[in-house]
Amino acid sequence: MPTLTITGKTTVYGILAHPIDHVRAPTVFNPQFETHGIDAVMVPFHVHPDDLPAAVAGMKANRSLRGLCVTVPHKVAIAEMCDELGAGAKRVGAANAVLFDADRRMIGDNFDGQGYVAGVKAGGFDFTGKDVLQLGAGGAGMAIAFAVAEAGAASLSIANRTVAKADELASRVHKLFPGCAVRGLPADADPAGYDLVINTTSLGLHDGDPLPVDIARLDAATVVSEIIMIPEETALLKAAKAGGHAVHYGRPMLDEQIKLIAAFIGCPIPA
Ligand SMILES: NC(=O)c1ccc[n+]([C@@H]2O[C@H](COP(=O)([O-])OP(=O)(O)OC[C@H]3O[C@@H](n4cnc5c(N)ncnc54)[C@H](OP(=O)(O)O)[C@@H]3O)[C@@H](O)[C@H]2O)c1
Repeated sequence: MPTLTITGKTTVYGILAHPIDHVRAPTVFNPQFETHGIDAVMVPFHVHPDDLPAAVAGMKANRSLRGLCVTVPHKVAIAEMCDELGAGAKRVGAANAVLFDADRRMIGDNFDGQGYVAGVKAGGFDFTGKDVLQLGAGGAGMAIAFAVAEAGAASLSIANRTVAKADELASRVHKLFPGCAVRGLPADADPAGYDLVINTTSLGLHDGDPLPVDIARLDAATVVSEIIMIPEETALLKAAKAGGHAVHYGRPMLDEQIKLIAAFIGCPIPA
């Protein structure tokens, strides 16, 4: 367990959530601060949604506080309270990191999409010119769809239980990245013919969930990617490995986001 020395000069960061017990950001950031001699600390900020405006007013007034990680259920509300949003947050209308600048203005951004793409790239997959099938069009899926198109995919098909959400997301992504052919599909659309299949649905979080896609219908060379982190090896990944497919796990998305968020909130973690 690292021991931080806190003084009047220590920069404070918060992880904003409700509930708070499950958050892991302090256990990720504080050892990094200690290892790299960064005079900073990250602490939990347990704020009920009803109290968010009062908490934000207090945070703006607290000059020791430099930035926040933001998680459920505050990502959309905090984005609406920011003075400025980066590209990732603007696209999805939600922020998972906030920086307080010298004038105590709040700058928000969202690194879900960038983190996902960086994680898969680090695992050796190049999106350029690829045909991608994304399962799901929820909060994380929205961010990932923009990032996949931005990373140079030739086409992106978004299959979702609620097809209208897939269609709407596809049209927004295509508008911003017209070089990528984007379409919405029903959840049971044919999954053959893709280089990469990404599961962004929450299917796989719980024992007994059905698989989000029938692995037997994928091409042999299709790579299968997951964003669920617990369990580490979801039923989808197990089935994909058993079927001989290369797989990418959910954890690198978080690891890459931590680096991106750390740089954004002003405490870059050296490589
Ligand atoms: N690795 C990471 O860093 C990271 C980051 C963020 C999230 N995640 C994981 O990503 C997953 C999704 O999170 P989220 O915030 O995007 O959730 P969300 O906004 O609630 O979206 C859930 C998605 O799953 C679909 N879905 C849910 N239940 C389904 C079912 N029974 N059958 C078919 N489709 C179903 C939803 O379809 P509808 O639109 O039809 O409801 C929607 O597309 C979670 O498992 C979360 O743990 C991982």
